[in-house]
Amino acid sequence: MALVALGVSGGIGAYKAVEVVRGLQKHGHEVAAIMTRSARRFVGEVTFEAITRRPVITDQYARGANADIEHISLATDAALLVVAPATANIIGKFANGIADDFLTSLYLATRAPVLIAPAMNTNMLEHEAVRRNLTTLGARGVRFVEPGDGYLACGWIGKGRLADPEAIVEAAVRVLEPRGSLLGRLVVVTAGPTYEDIDAVRYIGNRSSGRMGYAIAAEAARRGARVILVSGPSALAAPSGAEVISVRSAAEMHAAVGRHAAQADVIVMAAAVADYTPADGGAEGKIEKAEAPLDLRLVRTPDILADLGRARGQAPRPVLIGFAAESGDPVARGREKLKRKGVDLIVANDISRRDAGFDSDLNAATLVDANGDEPFPLGPKTALASIVLDRAERLLNLARDRR
Ligand code: C5P
Repeated sequence: MALVALGVSGGIGAYKAVEVVRGLQKHGHEVAAIMTRSARRFVGEVTFEAITRRPVITDQYARGANADIEHISLATDAALLVVAPATANIIGKFANGIADDFLTSLYLATRAPVLIAPAMNTNMLEHEAVRRNLTTLGARGVRFVEPGDGYLACGWIGKGRLADPEAIVEAAVRVLEPRGSLLGRLVVVTAGPTYEDIDAVRYIGNRSSGRMGYAIAAEAARRGARVILVSGPSALAAPSGAEVISVRSAAEMHAAVGRHAAQADVIVMAAAVADYTPADGGAEGKIEKAEAPLDLRLVRTPDILADLGRARGQAPRPVLIGFAAESGDPVARGREKLKRKGVDLIVANDISRRDAGFDSDLNAATLVDANGDEPFPLGPKTALASIVLDRAERLLNLARDRR
């Protein structure tokens, strides 16, 4: 049984936090509720007091509050800080280290893992300021429970509704009672395109949406792994349970993967990494247009996966898995890449299909390893993610047996 600090901030979904308390209690956990000033305009503190059977913390400066040992020790005693609903305001304060009430101070004071369930109007959620704050928190290891689509209290239909209480409880329980076939493992996943800057405003990108890598990261987290998702520019929201490192270029992705490679048990390179980048890091300012054609000199980017293969050499870990976008014979090309990059598995996608691959929820691929090839004819990327991780687990077990 663990003590969970549940922060409730001022959104219409605040009433759903009552169900979150109930769910956590059903799993045998104790909950201490903290309400922000605006949360109390939506739900009365007595509701939370009755259901948690504890005083509700509403004010850092309430008389007696600082003499109350329980109140003070929450930062050290809580095994998890959950914030549901988390408004744009509380997310902004967390991201920027503002501590002007009990909840924001607790966020800075605790070393417990933090799980945030954002809820707000669609435009707020999509605002660059909010997205940047979410990215900052993700990079700090904060986990998220994705908001859902539906009717919002403001009359809009769109994304931003607080996730269902069951989903929030499930995510919290996953942190509190970790289990799964990848428990104790570090899985590093790359996803999305890279952008190679030509000048201050133009870049070379590609059509990768990030869906394949994000699906793998989500599934690995579901299986109990610690997941670091190194993502190129993508519109997708952070998968629940993964730590997200946002990068832009192949060089940045190379550096981010390199920082974690030595500790990783599995590395899945699902990103569509640019093969070429403008020489000298692109031009300063904006290249002015002229009548004459423009010649761009492109130089090769580092092959991250091949580097990882070289660095691993004969060692059993990390398990290395690559994706390859192919329009020719996927098996022959996959086999060649398997050897050249020194990796365990290549998932060769057939990009000539119109119904699968880039920017689609579906994929068609062939899994190529030293023992042969297995087709994945056409199916959701989430299903392919499961198959890829099943393979990774088998490879991890082989590596263990070889030791
Ligand atoms: O050689 P090719 O680009 O087809 O190989 C694809 C695989 O190699 C993918 O897993 C991709 O993420 C990875 N890759 C890489 N660094 C590059 C290019 C590709 O790690 N510069």
